[in-house]
Amino acid sequence: MKVAVLGAGPAGLYFAISMKRRNPAHEITVFERNQPDDTFGWGVVLSAETLDNLAANDAVSAAWIREYFAYWDDIAVIHKGVRTASTGHGFCGIGRKRLLLLLQRRARDLGIELVFETEIDDPRPFMASHDLVIGADGLNSRSRTAFAEVFRPDIDVRKCKFVWLGTRQKFDDAFTFIFEETEHGWVWAHAYQFESETATFIVECSEETWAAWGFGDMTRDQSVATCERIFARHLGGHSLMSNAGHLRGSAWINFPRVLCERWSHKNLALLGDASASAHFSIGSGTKLALESAVALADYLHSEPGLEAAFDKYESARRTEVLRLQSAARNSLEWFEEVERYLDLDPVQFNYSLLTRSQRISHENLRLRDPEWLGGAEAWFQRRAGNTDNLRRAPMFAPFQLRDLRLENRVVVSPMAQYKAVDGCPTDWHFAHYAERAKGGAGLIYIEMTCVSPEGRITPGCTGFYAPEHEVAWKRLVDFVHAETEAKICAQIGHSGAKGSTQLGWQQIDAPLPGGNWPVMAASEVGWSSANQVPKAMDRADMARILGQFVASTEMAARCGFDMLEIHAAHGYLLSSFITPLTNHRADEYGDSLENRLRYPLEIFQAVRAVWPAHKPISVRISANDWMGDEGVTPAEAVEIARLLQAAGVDICDVSAGQTSIRARPVYGRMFQTPFSDRIRNETGMATMAVGNIYEPDHVNSILLAGRADLVCLARPHLADPYWTLHAAVQLGDRDVKWPDPYLNGRDQLYRLTERTATTGSIGGLKV
Ligand SMILES: Cc1cc2nc3c(=O)[nH]c(=O)nc-3n(C[C@H](O)[C@H](O)[C@H](O)COP(=O)(O)OP(=O)(O)OC[C@H]3O[C@@H](n4cnc5c(N)ncnc54)[C@H](O)[C@@H]3O)c2cc1C
Ligand SMILES: Cc1cc2nc3c(=O)[nH]c(=O)nc-3n(C[C@H](O)[C@H](O)[C@H](O)COP(=O)(O)O)c2cc1C
Repeated sequence: MKVAVLGAGPAGLYFAISMKRRNPAHEITVFERNQPDDTFGWGVVLSAETLDNLAANDAVSAAWIREYFAYWDDIAVIHKGVRTASTGHGFCGIGRKRLLLLLQRRARDLGIELVFETEIDDPRPFMASHDLVIGADGLNSRSRTAFAEVFRPDIDVRKCKFVWLGTRQKFDDAFTFIFEETEHGWVWAHAYQFESETATFIVECSEETWAAWGFGDMTRDQSVATCERIFARHLGGHSLMSNAGHLRGSAWINFPRVLCERWSHKNLALLGDASASAHFSIGSGTKLALESAVALADYLHSEPGLEAAFDKYESARRTEVLRLQSAARNSLEWFEEVERYLDLDPVQFNYSLLTRSQRISHENLRLRDPEWLGGAEAWFQRRAGNTDNLRRAPMFAPFQLRDLRLENRVVVSPMAQYKAVDGCPTDWHFAHYAERAKGGAGLIYIEMTCVSPEGRITPGCTGFYAPEHEVAWKRLVDFVHAETEAKICAQIGHSGAKGSTQLGWQQIDAPLPGGNWPVMAASEVGWSSANQVPKAMDRADMARILGQFVASTEMAARCGFDMLEIHAAHGYLLSSFITPLTNHRADEYGDSLENRLRYPLEIFQAVRAVWPAHKPISVRISANDWMGDEGVTPAEAVEIARLLQAAGVDICDVSAGQTSIRARPVYGRMFQTPFSDRIRNETGMATMAVGNIYEPDHVNSILLAGRADLVCLARPHLADPYWTLHAAVQLGDRDVKWPDPYLNGRDQLYRLTERTATTGSIGGLKV
């Protein structure tokens, strides 16, 4: 096959080598605009595992690369002048120039033609003269641009500015992150040794800080000198160096995240950064490029023709690329928002940095560096007021709100049961909630309990509006207090436009087949075209419903609930005031955020006045309508939280969505936690995170990284009322309290679990 490779970066060279290794008869030419040793950047990070994969593909180049590898195990963070380091991370690095020179040598040895100093503007002539053309021409690929309508690239230019520098200062003991506060804002560096004399030193900052320093108007030398001044106390007298001589201006850039819908067209395939890029902060761009090069060469030899090979390449590599890009996005967003975290204690800041991509979890960190993690856990426990047994996982730290003390940080999230009769909880509710209270969670919620019959979502929803409701709820609360360590929170709410609908397991949110009751909301906006158009509430309606909230609160107080939550999320009545999607009012309850929040806050104030002063109140919000700027955004949610906090709300329960049928949520593990993180770290308000959190590892990571104060789990508690007790067994924590009658079961479970851990078997069965 006659092959033209456009671009002699890691992707292009390694593809050429991989092709030639599979069939020496291929006639391959690599075209490169730069000179052989004229490369930007300094070191690149690879992992030992990546190198093993490369060795299986081409043992010769892998051995050469290995010879030059620099290894390091530690990650150090210098923040507020304090250096904290953890170990066990296992990186290796090599100079980018060294890597390229080795690959060039190997390519030449294999008979590949390398043509330097040749700028390729258009891949089309090569497509006509060659059987196969590879667009390996990097982030700003001309090959991609030439067929943009086919490849459909999505290029997301990110917020931070960075410049890739080098230094002779040694960073050979740890991959080091340095955060420096300057007169123009925070500037940080990612530093790592990649050969005995040189370390990479990437300097990064926000666009605002970059502009305030005037980097845009500086020459490259001035820019480097300024960075030297900023990081002088970490450089030990060494200078910073730029080798981006061939780049124009000061060599600072914004990282472009590249994603393409397709990677091939006719006989042209995109490879490496040209097809997909991964932010440098997770050090995977070169790995992606090299591994994709191997995969493409493989398929070109295993499949019957180019088209089949390209199809295989795209489908096989896309998942891996998206997985890495998702981790890279988490990581780069962390750096973009780093100023939010800089006030954290150094221990928590370091933990937050290490877990930023969500690829490293709490238990991963325990495996890497048990001592460091133990220290971080002890710090968390001490902060929570614990004085003994500091080695417990964060989820088992106590939490205090007003006079309410929770034994641990796990919360059974509110979940409607749709089993009430005329608003009255039944034996179902007693049995259901009693089981969850016995299950070890620090706090259990009852479902949204409605302030009036019309305020119910469905005919099966519970209420706080009739004397028999009070009797039934009080029986449950008394049981929880007498028999368990759990505390119990009443969530009160009004369904608004989403009222008079079917039970959860029928057609959810759809109107009742007959006998609908009239509904009301902030404005005349129906939930869907099938639902009723609600009456827009007038002042008399608002006063009446406010009175119902107060009466329900008084009932909850008489029942003895430990905490109260006002449900202002998910499109129900109060949420209909908050989100502009459903609030079209022209009075002082519409338009600005302050106005939209006025009624929910009036209700909060009225409720607060009758709720016992020593007990806390939370408010649940939808922190993202998933409708872009048309609805509530995560940024506006911060402002909502600020107003709630100023009004005296003790904790914000940060949910999202369910406010419009047009919403386009992006689901995933812990997908709503970033909203809680943002609110907590931008306002200082206590928060609860919720949404697709299902492993103890998730809970511990969220808490120790300071992304929430409490963690709510809903569906996991439907499947397992004893989720917290089981999590304790899994983590080997023996200090959690089981109900006395269950102690024999507890002991057996710990024994079996320990045996499984040591022998991998239960009763002789391999597990
Ligand atoms: C600051 C920074 C730090 C990084 N750190 C790491 C790291 O630690 N670990 C890691 O794995 N990755 C890292 N990367 C990413 C890594 O550099 C890229 O992902 C990787 O180089 C991709 O390889 P590539 O061959 O696709 O592209 P490139 O390395 O960009 O190679 C493309 C080649 O094509 C040439 N070319 C471009 N256009 C033309 C043209 N018109 N005509 C002729 N030739 C052309 C270029 O000169 C270049 O040599 C980093 C990137 C940056 C920007
Ligand atoms: C069956 C069911 C009923 C729910 N009822 C309520 C409710 O009454 N009030 C509320 O605020 N959220 C309610 N939710 C939402 C949950 O509290 C939680 O926010 C959501 O399920 C995401 O958490 P998860 O991924 O752990 O399930 C309900 C969820 C489920 C699955």
